[in-house]
Amino acid sequence: MIVNKPPMGWNSWNTFTDKIDEKLIMETADAMVENGLLEVGYEYLVIDDCWSEKERDKNGMLVADKQKFPHGMKYVADYVHSKGLKFGMYSCTGTLTCAGYPGSFGHEFEDAKYFAEVGVDFLKYDNCYATTMENRLAYLRMSVALRSCGRDILFSACNWGTNDVHNWARSVGAHMYRSTGDITDTFESIKYISTSQMDKFVYSGNNCFNDIDMLVTGLKGQGNIGFGQGCTDENYKYHFAFWCMASSPLMIGCDVRSLSEENKALLKNPFLIRINQDEEARPPMFSGKEYEFSAIKLLSDNEYAIGFFNPVDKPRTITFNFYQLGLMPSDNCTFKLTDVFTGEELGSFNDYVKVTVAAGDVKMFIAKPEKK
Ligand code: GLA
Repeated sequence: MIVNKPPMGWNSWNTFTDKIDEKLIMETADAMVENGLLEVGYEYLVIDDCWSEKERDKNGMLVADKQKFPHGMKYVADYVHSKGLKFGMYSCTGTLTCAGYPGSFGHEFEDAKYFAEVGVDFLKYDNCYATTMENRLAYLRMSVALRSCGRDILFSACNWGTNDVHNWARSVGAHMYRSTGDITDTFESIKYISTSQMDKFVYSGNNCFNDIDMLVTGLKGQGNIGFGQGCTDENYKYHFAFWCMASSPLMIGCDVRSLSEENKALLKNPFLIRINQDEEARPPMFSGKEYEFSAIKLLSDNEYAIGFFNPVDKPRTITFNFYQLGLMPSDNCTFKLTDVFTGEELGSFNDYVKVTVAAGDVKMFIAKPEKK
């Protein structure tokens, strides 16, 4: 199965943990369509941990929780599909999932068959209660089972960046791999994650994307991973813009049935989505790190995305010199800039771009070169 753009969708964990049921999932499917999220690319609706009974049935098969999903998972999957969305589910390399439900170890082939029968299009495969089997092989086992189950199922590996996963995720057939521990709805977490993978995005690209975890935009302290007031709108812009620049999968984590206008506009920003989904899927190049940094990503159609990130609590002035593109003044190459947040066209720039970025905020531009 070929996955040539970072997967986009919604996942139940960040807001709902174990408080999931048929009604929530069906209402979420409706909201993804009504809010135009599907239209801009958010196509996977993924149910995370806590969907099953605590025991397998007498044949060793997984069983949907009878209270939460009284009609079974196929009923839910059919509804999700009827909306034009794709359906995702969750399991684990270990004997139990992280929340203590049955894991897939030793049952990979039955479980892959179960997921195929339900109509699953995406499997998030977590890593709790892992056995002594080499981690790479535990993922490979499920990959082999999925590849033989008769249905195309996107394989989303989630071992939190352990065991040098970037070195083998692509080889074992993962279409995306979690490279970090769990995100929380704090700017500290966003900053930590955004700087932790700068030297590893070179491993990410078509068919195997570095997944720096699900989005927290719009949580504002609510839900499973919310803390206090959550983040500011500027912090959420920084977060989303970085994930787009990094070609990370974009899995929405908030309650899409009650999206704020700011959050909706951010999640649907056409420039940022275009940067994230660019068909060349080139990794960004960075300069700077702790106090401020700029990032540049080559896009198809002779364009570039340039981002200026300020992770500290004071405004910073950040300069992007065109020498960072290998260009010299004698090349007479200017760039026409468009602000991705306002859509404003800012005219032509020679030699460098210098911007002041507020604390915990970002500025980002699409740059188009013009050779004089
Ligand atoms: C781990 C994963 C999370 C989520 C939970 C579910 O912590 O990293 O993304 O899936 O398990 O229990």
